[in-house]
Order: sequence, then C-alpha cells, then structure tokens
Amino acid sequence: MHKLDLHRQDLLVASNFIGSDWVGASSGRRFDVTDPSDGSLIASVPDSGKEDAEFALEAAHVAFASWRTTTARERADLLKRWHALVTQNEEDLARLIAREQGKPLAEGLGEVQYAASYIEWFAEGAAHVTGDVIASPTRQRRMMAVKEPVGVVAVVTPWNFPAAMIARKIAPALAAGCTVVAKPAEDTPLTALALARLALEAGLPAGVLNVVCASRSNTPSVVDTWLDDVRVRKVSFTGSTPIGKRLAERSAPTLKKLSLELGGNAPFIVFDDADLTAAAAGLLAAKFRNSGQTCVSPNRVFVQAGVYEDFADRITQLVARLKVGAAHEDNVQIGPLINARAAEKVVTHIGDALHRGARLLVGGERARGNFITPAVLVDVDDKMLVSCEETFGPVVAISRFSTEEEVLQKANDTPFGLASYFYTRDAARIWRFSEQLETGIVGINEGITSSAAAPFGGIKESGYGREGSIHGIDDYLHLKYLCHGGLS
Ligand code: SIN
Repeated sequence: MHKLDLHRQDLLVASNFIGSDWVGASSGRRFDVTDPSDGSLIASVPDSGKEDAEFALEAAHVAFASWRTTTARERADLLKRWHALVTQNEEDLARLIAREQGKPLAEGLGEVQYAASYIEWFAEGAAHVTGDVIASPTRQRRMMAVKEPVGVVAVVTPWNFPAAMIARKIAPALAAGCTVVAKPAEDTPLTALALARLALEAGLPAGVLNVVCASRSNTPSVVDTWLDDVRVRKVSFTGSTPIGKRLAERSAPTLKKLSLELGGNAPFIVFDDADLTAAAAGLLAAKFRNSGQTCVSPNRVFVQAGVYEDFADRITQLVARLKVGAAHEDNVQIGPLINARAAEKVVTHIGDALHRGARLLVGGERARGNFITPAVLVDVDDKMLVSCEETFGPVVAISRFSTEEEVLQKANDTPFGLASYFYTRDAARIWRFSEQLETGIVGINEGITSSAAAPFGGIKESGYGREGSIHGIDDYLHLKYLCHGGLS
C-alpha cells in the first residue's frame, strides 16, 4: 500500500454535499485537484456556480428552522460523534491533507488532531451557553437577555489548513444552532468533503451542513450568491486581507455579522537577555510550520545587536538540517508550497532582499517544482519585500535592532496585527512589551500559541472576530432582550 493510500476509499469524495446528497455541479463542470509536490491528479470535483450555491443555501435555510430548536445537548452529542469519527479516521484525513496540500504526513496528522480539538471543544461548549437575568428598574417588569443562533452561516476557508480551519468554523456554528454553507479552497476541497462524510455518518440532519466546491474563477459566483442573500446572516472567512475587505463590502447591504481572520506580518523579537536555545527552537517551530504557509508564522525576525551573530548562527544550523521532500517521504519537515505562484513569490522576495543588500546564509533555492529549500536571510531592512509583505514560505528574514523602543516601533509599523512573539528573561519587560504590541496574539517565550482553548484572531487589518476559546461560539449567536411587563 502506498503511504498516501486511504484505508477507507469512501473518504475520497468528489461531489458537492447539499442537503444530505452527494451531487455534481448543475452545469456538469468539474475541476482538477492536484498534488502540489508533482502536479499529479488526485480527483476532479464539481465546479459549482450560482445555481449550486442557491441549492445549498435553500437546504441550509430550510434546515435552520428545525436545527435551531434542537437542545444544546443534542447538538453536543452530534459533535461528539463527529469528533470520534474524525479521530478514528485521522490517518486517512492526514493522507488527504498530505496529498492535496503537501504537508508532511506527520504534520498532517497533527493538523487533524488540531481540527478534532475544535470539534471537541465546541461539543463541550454547546451546553454552556447562557444568558442574563437583568435586575429590573421597576417592579412591574422582568428582564432577560438570551442568546440565539444567528441563522445560516457562510464559511469560506483557505488551503493552508484544510481540516482545522473548516472545523473551527463549522463546529461552533453547529454548536450554536446555526446551519452552514461552506466553500473550501479550490486547492484543497477533498479534506472538507471527507469531513462532511464523517459528519453525515455521525447523524448530521439534512441541510445542516452543505459543502460546495468551485474553481478559482467560479468562486466569486458561489460566494457572492451567499453574500447578496439576506438569508445568510453571518460570514466566517479565513484568507487574505484584500478578499476580507471585499467580503465585508459585499456583506454591507444586508448587514451580515462577520468573522474575518486575515493576513499577518508577525514580528519575532529576540532580546539580548533571551534564552537563545529556546528562541531558536521557538522560531524554527513557528516559522517552518506548514513550510511557512501559516498566517501566524513570524515574517520579520528582529534580533538585538548583542546576540545578533550568535542567534543567526544558531538558527542557520537548525534550518540547514531541515529535510525537504514530498509528503509521503520519510522524516520530511518541509513540503512543497501550494502552487507555482506561491513558490515564485518566495523566490521574488529572496531576490529582492539580496538585491537590496541582505545576505543569504542558507537555502533559498527553488529545488524542483514548488519546493523551496528553507532559507535564512540576514541584514534585512524594513523596505524589503520580505518585511513589507507576508512571504508565506520557508524564509527567516533577520534584522538587527538596538533598543526596546526602536523594536516596538518597528514591530507595530504594519497595517496587520495578527500575531507577535518575543523572547526575554526580563519580567518587567514581558508585561510592558506585551501590553504595547498591536496584535491579537502574543507569544511570550513561546513559538506555538495555537490551541482550541485560546482566542485566535487579529486586530487592525488582520480582521475581527475570535475563533476557539469560550468566546468563539459568541460569533455565531446574537443577544435578544426579553422584557416582560405589566406585572403587579
Ligand atoms: C492560519 O494560518 O490561519 C491558522 C494557524 C493556526 O490556527 O495556528
């Protein structure tokens, strides 16, 4: 058996999921899903359009009337059964992720477990939603605030975490009593469809979750159908800031609730007094997760002058040992980038940095196809593309700084505000500095912050809304005030 073959062939689904049926696009059109490591065909899936988006929305709308009346315990039980099935089939799901997204198999397995942790978290949280009994200003009234599901939710997910991103949107939506229409990224729809199959197996009622695939060119006709329709009451999107802004604009006429998890440009700061071994290990883990194709990956590394050479040397030694290869190869840590466009962007960023005076200490070659050898650049400045844009690839770009004030100014000098990281042993600085960083997530002497228990999300142009944590479900609920008057 090839390492990426599935134990359960029926988890490779190549149809839309609408109502409780597996269907093709009404146009009959399909598009190919390929392996980013070699371009080989994995499957072809429906290339849906407006009509398919409408069918899915109608199914979700009809299902909402009954799903919203289920008890929180019933919804939690469904999510628990789904979680159990995801866990039982984690190897197959990891293989699907590895094939369509390119993540090394072990990392794919980690992603499935991360996805499952969100389903479990919101299964546990469904029954903990409460409202308020409000002290009435008059004796004649009793006042309460109750939380209700917002309605049909449109979920639009990216290719970099094909299981985790959709799980952390669908699970809270279902837990809250909402129904869902989802459009997974065109590069990686197969994991989403496999998750839908497992949800169906878990007892998902018809129409509660609908998954519609579309190619890059047809995506706007699917998503715009949902954005324009008054029946969709909320949109949850993870992806780029320009697309996030477009979704916000298009949702404005119907005033939908929005959760936008958008681009980042995370600073990673190493102070002179840091534990350099821990800082290098933290940077390696954070930067090379998913080959650097992660919104919270450090993009700009700032190292204080006293430890600059030492730290650059340590990280270079670690990076030089990373093994690049296809997902099924043994002990691989760096897979291919998602497509040729992504690989070209990384090459352009490295070229621009070198042209403007940076030095390359290791890597940076486009080995074959979409593979880039992990790179370390030093003497980077804030004008270079690696500093101004999210490189979204396996490149560590290091700049030197002298003072805390200087690095704080540089760290915040970006429209984005998703994640930041810093390493220091100074307790006073830890609190002073974390309070001034303009990001939604701060890693303090820690490179991996993500957890279903923690609020994930940004500030500034990295978006709004939070996923995971006790707050994540609130994005799918609205608050209704009940005022009972005329009492004696
Ligand atoms: C992302 O890259 O958008 C998600 C990363 C995470 O959940 O840690």
